[in-house]
Amino acid sequence: MTENRPRIVVTRKIAEPALAVLREVGDVWFPEPDRALSPGELHTAIAGADAIVSTLHDRVDAAFADAAGPQVKVIATVAVGYDNADVAALTDRGIVFTNTPGVLTDATADLAFGLLLVVTRRLGEGERLLRARTPWSFNLGFMLGSGLQGKTLGIVGLGQIGQAVARRALAFGMDIAYSGRRRVPGEVENALQARYLPFEELLHTADVLSLHCPLTPETRHLIDATALASMKPSAFLINTTRGPVVDEAALADALADGVIAGAGLDVFEKEPEVHPRLLELDNVALAPHLGSATVETRTAMAMLAARNVAAVLTGGDPLTPVKG
Ligand code: GLV
Repeated sequence: MTENRPRIVVTRKIAEPALAVLREVGDVWFPEPDRALSPGELHTAIAGADAIVSTLHDRVDAAFADAAGPQVKVIATVAVGYDNADVAALTDRGIVFTNTPGVLTDATADLAFGLLLVVTRRLGEGERLLRARTPWSFNLGFMLGSGLQGKTLGIVGLGQIGQAVARRALAFGMDIAYSGRRRVPGEVENALQARYLPFEELLHTADVLSLHCPLTPETRHLIDATALASMKPSAFLINTTRGPVVDEAALADALADGVIAGAGLDVFEKEPEVHPRLLELDNVALAPHLGSATVETRTAMAMLAARNVAAVLTGGDPLTPVKG
């Protein structure tokens, strides 16, 4: 170990090939065994770091940057969403901040579509029935779900992941409608046969509404009691973006009262907590934030974060910077 090698702190253990990339450019520290550090432990751990690889549950704000110290050059989050970061505060301090877009698009779209199938075809409910050893017999009216063909998938936020979900839905014979901060280029709309609708209209048109917008002050509780009341009673809600985009208590009420038919959720307002009433409902499919959780994708995300760190520490340009 030489004196002047950069110090790289990795807040949660990442895939070995990415650690190898980091070890080529500095001395790497991460908590062993892997665990979530408390905010106090985190601030102590990052003190003096030249580079930090963080995750979506680290609060990467001015206090975080100050705890690291003025020498910190780059913070690379292993996630595409960065609502946990105050990018302006980092930029003000001259810190490069990077995320991992692109590499998790398909895995997240697969998971969104998986939840859609689980809830519309009542697969979770069916599995619970079998595991409870409940007597059952096949009959023509048993556990009927909702078909997808000819139904409208409403996508909120037709970015990379929203588009990947749309491609899957097209293959299932669904129609695509979307809303978002802005319209996508005409060629994208044409390729996906996607029609743009104002948000209000999307709410009452969609048979399945899938959320793919980032969490921002504007999208926090975008799906509240009023929005849920605008949806069809036969509609399903899928959330694989960030929990706070949905008012979880209002959703639990809507699901219990038949305001909408069902929901598939991979993300929650106060992770790792899940609203207790959601756990009681049969018409909701739940996953513990698994959107990008494949070996291949998590490795690719970690590699991208590590390459961002390596680029900055060796005087190059980051690959996927987020601008403040
Ligand atoms: C996961 O939630 C991510 O933002 O990458």
